[in-house]
Amino acid sequence: MRKTIDHILQQLEGFRPGTLSQVEEFRVQMLGKKGMLTRLFEDFKNVEPEQKREWGQLLNQLKTKVQEAVKTHKAQLEQKQEGAAATDDLTKPASFTHAGSRHPVSLVLREILDIYASMGFAIAEGPEIEDDRHVFSALNFAPDHPARDMQDTFFINTNTDNPILLRTHTSSVQVRTMETKIPPIRVVCPGRVFRNEAISARAHCIFHQVEGLYIDKNVSFADLKQAILLFARRMFGSSARIRLRPSYFPFTEPSAEVDVSCNICGGQGCNVCKNTGWLEIMGAGMVDPSVLEASGIDSQKYSGYAFGMGVERIAMLKWQIKDLRLYFENDVKFLEQFFLW
Ligand code: DAH
Repeated sequence: MRKTIDHILQQLEGFRPGTLSQVEEFRVQMLGKKGMLTRLFEDFKNVEPEQKREWGQLLNQLKTKVQEAVKTHKAQLEQKQEGAAATDDLTKPASFTHAGSRHPVSLVLREILDIYASMGFAIAEGPEIEDDRHVFSALNFAPDHPARDMQDTFFINTNTDNPILLRTHTSSVQVRTMETKIPPIRVVCPGRVFRNEAISARAHCIFHQVEGLYIDKNVSFADLKQAILLFARRMFGSSARIRLRPSYFPFTEPSAEVDVSCNICGGQGCNVCKNTGWLEIMGAGMVDPSVLEASGIDSQKYSGYAFGMGVERIAMLKWQIKDLRLYFENDVKFLEQFFLW
């Protein structure tokens, strides 16, 4: 008996439970049906009568000690658990997970399309591998126009009357839309375009454009100007102004290059706008009647405007990205800056 009592005392001293189930385990081990203490009390029946008083006291003291230890450890652990739950700050930001982010070109493209969708433009798409007719001829490019040059265009097959090539602009989707739809037509055509250019900070052989086309009865240059102004204000802020400079495109007449007031200096002049206060954002114009006719639209009845912009260029102006190559290098350090956009 003495040995068991010493053993229990030793266990009691070293008892440092970390969990409530460890406390319960200890309780069963000591006070359970087959517990050490329970068995001691059974043995107690065989103690000599004159020693009963002394052993009885000892065992009762031991039992109280064990019961108390179980009680206090249990209470302590329960309190700790409650405390931990109470200090769990539910407003604490979650730990960061790398969920990936949209590419800046996709972000700007989506914004452009959203703006035009709100003006009633539908989305039209066309093939990246095109033919000369849709990219050049039907758009009024003369047979010797420099844009057809090997320098600019990636040709796939030139052994035909209608060479196969990678489209150099999304204006080809204008043609495909006019060929298949009856006016009124109001579409924006997003897509990838290809040009045989040396890659530099300001030029790339692949980039993205959004082409716009609106054809109806009585569409005027004023409609075009208003649509561009609305776009500029939505994209660059409500104080944005636009400026149209006369220009030339084979498929529009009259044609214009469109500038927006510099969103960095507000038009005062800075190094982003090269002290001009203006940034070029797109080409635009009234669809040349011969282009309407080439796609089977009666130019006596209908008129229309068209515009085309580079998506990378808009993103560059929006975020002051200085090098076009960044868009295609997939450097995570660059891309993750757009995580919360
Ligand atoms: N296709 C032209 C380019 O790639 C952009 C453009 C200019 C489109 C004027 C148009 C337009 O529809 O009217 O440079």
